[in-house]
Amino acid sequence: MGAPLLEVKDLKVEFKRPGGVVHAVNGVNFVLEAGQSLGIVGESGSGKSVTMLSLLGLIGRTGRVVGGSAMFNGVDLVKMAPRELQDVRGRDIAVIFQDPMTSLNPIMKIGAQITESMRMRKIYSAAEAKERAIELLDRVGIPQPAKRLNDYPYQFSGGMRQRVMIALALALKPKLLIADEPTTALDVTVQAQVLDLLESLQDETGMAMIIITHDLGVATNYCDNLAVMYAGEIVEMTSVDRLVEHTSHPYALGLLNSTMEIGHGKTAIQPIPGNPPSALKVHKACPFAPRCRFKSSVCQERKPELATVEPNHLVACFHADTVVKAAQQGDDAAAEVMLNVAQPIHA
Ligand SMILES: Nc1ncnc2c1ncn2[C@@H]1O[C@H](COP(=O)(O)OP(=O)(O)OP(=O)(O)O)[C@@H](O)[C@H]1O
Ligand SMILES: [Mg+2]
Repeated sequence: MGAPLLEVKDLKVEFKRPGGVVHAVNGVNFVLEAGQSLGIVGESGSGKSVTMLSLLGLIGRTGRVVGGSAMFNGVDLVKMAPRELQDVRGRDIAVIFQDPMTSLNPIMKIGAQITESMRMRKIYSAAEAKERAIELLDRVGIPQPAKRLNDYPYQFSGGMRQRVMIALALALKPKLLIADEPTTALDVTVQAQVLDLLESLQDETGMAMIIITHDLGVATNYCDNLAVMYAGEIVEMTSVDRLVEHTSHPYALGLLNSTMEIGHGKTAIQPIPGNPPSALKVHKACPFAPRCRFKSSVCQERKPELATVEPNHLVACFHADTVVKAAQQGDDAAAEVMLNVAQPIHA
């Protein structure tokens, strides 16, 4: 097998703030093969967005990648000059955000926005670019696409704008599409339509996809693998099926238990005390220990490494064996994790 499409190793990102240094990403590792989809879940502030934005050079002037690498297609994104990265972004890697208005230019007709990137890269003539824009709008389910090329973003509904943004993202046939909470702002039916669309586009084009979501249901439905983030790190990563059946990290278990349809939990979802740790802190011990039912003294002394427990299953927990057994047997300690973990993530 050749090199993976994207291999992120020990990625660390910080922000300088008047109150101190924010340790937003504290050593993230993952591998994404071509054509695969990876879901990134975790509560607010766990570093999901910053991880992805840092790969694309989009963390702003106060942010800095302070360590690690991100090999994409044979080049290290982290070491690339802004100009080169800008080239990769858009051509090989496309991003869509929760709010399409952050990506769409409100005062430019959407046809022009879609054709602009194609023409800038001189892949298509003006006529070809227009043709392809119509084709793309049609493909993402915009009725009367030729006519709508002349409309402005405000003339589209939220769901339709999201479709336009997907068309824009796909214009240059990216190898990787990163979607950061792509449907959070949409109502449930439209959400499902947009996600189904992304899934079928992925099938057609063979692109890889990273979906960042606070919704574990979305992640399990639409992804091959899942990475669970906590305090700027991935604490568990494996296939969707294995995560559900062999949950090995107490925080991942808490997330699953809080999502009733797929969880091991037997009782209703409860609002739970406990907060994620401050990102101003550097963790020498397990960052989840203060909220963990399974903790022992070692968890408060050392930080567990993300280690392979099975091929394609990585966990950062000293008590992964105990957790997985407890979860499978549905015993009290496992069920109580639900009580001990804050309600996952806000919308
Ligand atoms: N521009 C910034 N300046 C300072 N700190 C930042 C900046 N952007 C993000 N952070 C901090 O970095 C950490 C990770 O943030 P990030 O946005 O990646 O979280 P997230 O997992 O995407 O959360 P959410 O689910 O709310 O989108 C947080 O502590 C956040 O406050
Ligand atoms: Mg985010």
